Amino acid sequence: MSSPTIVTTDQLFKVAYGKFAIGAYNINNAEQSIGLFQGCMQSQAPFIIQISKGARKYTDKRMLEAIIRTSAEMFPEAIFAVHLDHGDEETCYDCIKSGFYSSVMIDASHESFEENIAITKRVVDVAHAAGISVEAELGMLGGVEEDIEVDEGNACLTNPEEAVEFIARSGCDSLAAAIGTSHGAYKFQGAQSLHFEVLESIMNKTPGMPIVMHGSSSVPKEEVRRINEAGGTLDPSACGVNEEEYLPAAKLGVTKINIDTDGRLVWTRVHREFFRDNTDQFDFRPPGKIFMKEYGDFIAHKNGKLGSAGTLETVRKAVS
Ligand code: G3H
Ligand code: 13P
Ligand code: ZN
Repeated sequence: MSSPTIVTTDQLFKVAYGKFAIGAYNINNAEQSIGLFQGCMQSQAPFIIQISKGARKYTDKRMLEAIIRTSAEMFPEAIFAVHLDHGDEETCYDCIKSGFYSSVMIDASHESFEENIAITKRVVDVAHAAGISVEAELGMLGGVEEDIEVDEGNACLTNPEEAVEFIARSGCDSLAAAIGTSHGAYKFQGAQSLHFEVLESIMNKTPGMPIVMHGSSSVPKEEVRRINEAGGTLDPSACGVNEEEYLPAAKLGVTKINIDTDGRLVWTRVHREFFRDNTDQFDFRPPGKIFMKEYGDFIAHKNGKLGSAGTLETVRKAVS
């Protein structure tokens, strides 16, 4: 058995830049991993598997690695990067040392500008020596990420001038920019749009630099409605990024689009509906099977919107 085709995010971004975006999907368990691989094979798309610190604690970091390795054996055609999502310095070093991750995110966006640069640079030096790509964040998204909660008032968009200096001094390979999105299901109140003017300005000042968009779930109204109809109490005003804005963002340098919440909504809807309609059941495998199939379809749909669907063979040629 040949080793799985794990590539760096940098390799993927070189092919995608200015044309389409690569979907970065968080996984926590085997069902999500199988659905993700299945959906990417269905849509013939490269992808990025994201592992958060929370996921590493929930399933155990070794278990996640085993799940991903096994998924890759089940789907040997897959091309993907393994990425640490919202890492702190210590977790970045742990992932780099593991030899399994091909990319890490150091998120020191809550620190001062100077401290963010200093921490990011330290991680970049260690990661690059091991051939691993580094994503860093400048600006602050609203919502909750890992243990840090940022209210909308403190969220701040990335300053394009600062981005130029940050990239030059930190040496990061991609930049997570705050352009109006936030994590979770409640992103926008009122007008719903990305700050394309900020994106365009960053791209013009840092041509060729891959930009990452966090908080990119679209939070479909229909999904929220079905969850609530099956007993959930999500706020019906929940609202996310318009999927039709993914590709215009990609044309302005966004090469990685992070999606987690939408997948959680699929899981919640499938399981709530299943147990509502089968009140005598207690086997988790039947809804698990439905979830894997539905999660795969969901991923294939997202890859279509990102423009990564159908690019697998082009990417294979570029990375081989
Ligand atoms: O940005 C955060 C991601 O959605 C991961 O969430 O930290 O709850 O695993 P988590
Ligand atoms: P969502 O909450 O919009 O899915 O964002 C996920 C994310 O940014 C992970 O880093
Ligand atoms: Zn994020």
